[in-house]
Amino acid sequence: MLAAMANRPQIRRHHHITLCSGGAQEDYDFHTKVLSLKSVKKTALYDGDVPIYHLYYGNDLGEESTLVTTFPMRQSGRKARRGTGQVRILSLSVPESALAFWRKRLTTHGFAVREASRFGERALQFQHPCGLDYELVGIADDARKPYSNGEVPAELAIRGTHGIVVSVREHESSNEFMTEAWSGRRVAEDGRFVRYVFGEEAGAAKPAPRTGKIVDFMLEPELPQASWTYGEGIVHHCAFQVDDLEAQDAMKFRLEGLGFTDTSERKDRGYFDSIYVRTPAGALFEATVSKPGGMTVDELPDQLGGAFQIPPPFRHRSQELMGYLEPLRY
Ligand SMILES: [Fe+2]
Repeated sequence: MLAAMANRPQIRRHHHITLCSGGAQEDYDFHTKVLSLKSVKKTALYDGDVPIYHLYYGNDLGEESTLVTTFPMRQSGRKARRGTGQVRILSLSVPESALAFWRKRLTTHGFAVREASRFGERALQFQHPCGLDYELVGIADDARKPYSNGEVPAELAIRGTHGIVVSVREHESSNEFMTEAWSGRRVAEDGRFVRYVFGEEAGAAKPAPRTGKIVDFMLEPELPQASWTYGEGIVHHCAFQVDDLEAQDAMKFRLEGLGFTDTSERKDRGYFDSIYVRTPAGALFEATVSKPGGMTVDELPDQLGGAFQIPPPFRHRSQELMGYLEPLRY
């Protein structure tokens, strides 16, 4: 019992980030044609009674920490209010040497690009066509395999998530959550930003590369609370990888034991199992365990994303579902 108590559950890295975007075609073209990510799964949101696409983008196999997933909300007519208390920026990792290429590529595609720097890292900031904030961060030592067959050559391609930026009105309650519950380590401050990383012991002789394991908090006390509902134009949640179902259970107990009782039961998401927690900052976090096979549980590895996958809650209404969802060319 005491030994088990000593083993605190660990977050390893990002698993996926999920955004509420605009039109399905606009979202698909942005991620596959501009950002050159692979469409690894086309399915629908498992929750609710009105079908909404769920589109997954990532590397060849849609591995953990390469996944960006979206709920295109325009068909529903539901708009979100942006503000604080939400994930505000999605940071994706590209080779440092590829930043000039990406600046030109994004500009050619009509995106306004702004250069920024945070914690000594150079970034290109731009917006998804629906207004969500993205940035490409130049990283020299990211060993993750990118999509090998996209419009952008692999040596220049996006490696996966680098970090997220959560907008907050104050830092203290998030600091308690991140260090006591979510197993993060506060490693740096830069102006109104505070950085946390995962999978790193304090004082480790040679820290592992941090990309894909970062959460930054950005102080924005003047803004109103952003929406929590599904609505166009906000990040819905960020998912983080834990080792196995036992670690996921342990994280749930840890969260609830500390008083973070807005923690869900385990939900079967088809490709992974998830628990969700509403963090003190307001942003929704998820602790996630991939199922054996991950994205390949219903499609062969070389056919990932090739066909729409009817989600189990809608199987008895598949014709109705396909008749309702807006057309998507791919
Ligand atoms: Fe998720």
